[in-house]
Amino acid sequence: MLTFDSETTRILDAAYQGSDITRRRQVSFDALAPRPGERILDLGCGPGLLTQELARAVSSQGEVIGLDPSADMRKTAENRCQTEDHVRILDGTAEAIPLGDGQVDKAVSVQVFEYLGDLDGPLAELHRVIRPGGRVVISDVHWDTLVWRSDDPVRMDRMIAAWDDHLANRVVPEALPERLSKAGFRDIRSIPVTFSDILPRPDGIARMMIILMTAYARQNALLPEVDIDEWQAEQEALARTGRFFFSMTHFVTVADRR
Ligand SMILES: C[S@@+](CC[C@H](N)C(=O)[O-])C[C@H]1O[C@@H](n2cnc3c(N)ncnc32)[C@H](O)[C@@H]1O
Repeated sequence: MLTFDSETTRILDAAYQGSDITRRRQVSFDALAPRPGERILDLGCGPGLLTQELARAVSSQGEVIGLDPSADMRKTAENRCQTEDHVRILDGTAEAIPLGDGQVDKAVSVQVFEYLGDLDGPLAELHRVIRPGGRVVISDVHWDTLVWRSDDPVRMDRMIAAWDDHLANRVVPEALPERLSKAGFRDIRSIPVTFSDILPRPDGIARMMIILMTAYARQNALLPEVDIDEWQAEQEALARTGRFFFSMTHFVTVADRR
């Protein structure tokens, strides 16, 4: 579990609306191709940025349902979407979606499946709630694509292993095509979105990762404090001396329901 102080929350909010995460949201949005009048489920809607963008696209003739088990996230999403009457924010999980069969035209889930222990149950739920011919978009990082420069690769590996501790599945994009097909989806395609930085930009994903990994390792005492401090200091030093390098690929998986 990762908890945030107000300064970390402010930095994260900037990152979520920053260039990298906006690009990831845009590719997911384009893959979903929302149309006026559609009913769309945003599964694990978090702070509701995509929920709001989808609400604008479906217009008041349609509806967007944001679903999230976190009360804090739902509150943020509700506040963000309060001017949109055709948005409903519901409490629930991917394992038991509180909707009837075939009730939505499309569903999207951005960086949620990597927190799920089992993929098949949530995919069966998505297949159940999406109408025949509807679409699903699932976006997650393949964590094996992470390339990150360090002069201390052993300490870097330990920081990454500490971060992995908070994930249930670090290779969701490679598992999804087969699992989606078995769940009854067809026309499956995978769109890569690579984030690559030679500077930890204030609104970029690399800087967000440094903040989150440091906080997670510290809060859960996964490495000695001194190692965490030195890892963070090394990344800052690499950036100051023009030697910083970070790259990671997120995949937007798209499929249509049979
Ligand atoms: C990294 S955030 C992504 C939020 C949002 N989709 C976005 O891209 O901004 C992951 C979200 O998944 C939610 N989540 C965690 N476990 C879940 C589950 N079993 N079912 C649905 N959502 C879940 C969390 O509460 C959190 O809001």
